[in-house]
Amino acid sequence: MRFDVITIFPELITGYLAVGILGRARQRGLVQVQPWNPRDFSELPHGRVDDRPFGGGPGMVLMAPPLLGAIAAARSANPDARVAYLTPQGRQFRQEDAREFASRPGMILLAGRYEGIDERVMAAVDEEWSIGDYVLAGGELPALILMEATARLLPGVLGDEDSAAQDSFTELGLLDCPHYTRPERLGSGGEVPAVLLSGDHRRIARWRRGQALLRTQERRPDLWAQHILSQEDLLCLQEAENVGHGRV
Ligand code: ADE
Repeated sequence: MRFDVITIFPELITGYLAVGILGRARQRGLVQVQPWNPRDFSELPHGRVDDRPFGGGPGMVLMAPPLLGAIAAARSANPDARVAYLTPQGRQFRQEDAREFASRPGMILLAGRYEGIDERVMAAVDEEWSIGDYVLAGGELPALILMEATARLLPGVLGDEDSAAQDSFTELGLLDCPHYTRPERLGSGGEVPAVLLSGDHRRIARWRRGQALLRTQERRPDLWAQHILSQEDLLCLQEAENVGHGRV
């Protein structure tokens, strides 16, 4: 999958994407990322890309011509991709959106800065996405979040194909269960639930399901309200309630 990212700070994108899961995915050719700097499309001295807002007021606004130039270049490099603008005014990005994005051939992500971008750029934008109800200094972090959430769902990107399927939200919008690894005993106390050491895979699966249900019920009433409990779920949840939160 190919991502083109329009940003006046391309180093923020390339730095983050050089390491970890996405770094490996890029090396293996599963994901391509190309930043485009609007400064390279500015016709003003020193590659200027911003100016004061018409009508007055604080802050600077990113000008339309360099952004439109960068969008046009990205579109010709990634012709099947839609242009997505990252903005707190956009639709809230969720796991189900990452799944849909992962089925696309590519995306062009437009990261704003300062007080905003000239509204006339919106004629070249196909969709608007927010990562949450807070205001960041720019769209680079949201673009990285969207790319990481999407890319890790692409076949072959995660080492173990199963690990995406078990994540929070992936399966029916439940939170993830707790995880443990060695050492079995910590000096400070805190035990590993005995069921996880039992080798009984059916019981382990039921325990994990019960913990996921219990956590979702306790922490995310919004998700819980959407969840349809099966008979099996109900039994796993009752077991989890009986043994307590992560302790057997
Ligand atoms: N740019 C600034 N804040 C943002 C947010 N919450 N989501 C997406 N883009 C943004």
